[in-house]
Amino acid sequence: MTTDSFVCERLTKSFAHGPDAAPAVDDVSFTLGTGRSFGIVGESGAGKSTLLKCLVGLLPADGGRVTYEGQDVGRMSRQEMRAYRRRVQLVLQDPYTSLPVNATVAQALEEPLAIHRLGSSQDRRARILRALESVSLAQRTLDRGIRTLSGGQRQRVAIARALVLDPQTLLLDEPVSALDVSVRAQVLNVLIDLQEERGLGYVVVSHDLNVIKILADEVAVMLKGRFVEQGSATQVLYSPRHEYSQLLVSVAPSVERSLENRAQRERPAVAGTV
Ligand SMILES: Nc1ncnc2c1ncn2[C@@H]1O[C@H](COP(=O)(O)OP(=O)(O)OP(=O)(O)O)[C@@H](O)[C@H]1O
Ligand SMILES: [Mg+2]
Repeated sequence: MTTDSFVCERLTKSFAHGPDAAPAVDDVSFTLGTGRSFGIVGESGAGKSTLLKCLVGLLPADGGRVTYEGQDVGRMSRQEMRAYRRRVQLVLQDPYTSLPVNATVAQALEEPLAIHRLGSSQDRRARILRALESVSLAQRTLDRGIRTLSGGQRQRVAIARALVLDPQTLLLDEPVSALDVSVRAQVLNVLIDLQEERGLGYVVVSHDLNVIKILADEVAVMLKGRFVEQGSATQVLYSPRHEYSQLLVSVAPSVERSLENRAQRERPAVAGTV
């Protein structure tokens, strides 16, 4: 029998209190099956990042319960929490603030291994090189300062920093938003391969419905702290039921649709030249 990775039940988180204060995360429930991907879409300020931070315990939830592989995250011992923090990695939305800016890439990738006291120096080197390769960064990048990297390179270092710990589940907050189209495709392929090879599970937040379409099995649409719709990716993205999901889908630039439009626009011009 396979255990679910995450079971999140009625999670609530407020930053402000008082009669007019709306919770940032409001009564959210979902299940992430082992090796599956759960996508979250929604407008800016909907509570997506707050939800991910509550899942890893970076922010304390006000109510509800999160279990990981059957264990209540709120009741873990220090030792269990340590293991949990290795198995579940959050890749933050903004690699500018999440990475140690004064470090080199090598130092940034070694830091989590040192914190978790993992591996000999040889083993650490092997893990670092493997993680770097996973995100298609050259070995020579190791000596570069984080400060000198492009946004896309930083984002890939942030993903590699999560991968060095050999996690089981990645929580990815806008994982490819800072990447140009070709690198974006590369990183998405890396994520798909990792899932196939290592059975990784993902909770992925993205504004880009095409990213969600590529990565997610299940999708939730978040609005003002709540999941207003939740279902299989096919159902939510192709037959959305809630009017807010319908709006999101209708305004999303669809790759297929834009290619179709372009083909239609180009056809008369081609005909005209004959
Ligand atoms: N540390 C904090 N203190 C106070 N309010 C916060 C804090 N973090 C988030 N919020 C508020 O909680 C709400 C949800 O924010 P959150 O960052 O989770 O949104 P989001 O869906 O990730 O948005 P985006 O797509 O822009 O990243 C917002 O109203 C935000 O201002
Ligand atoms: Mg966010």
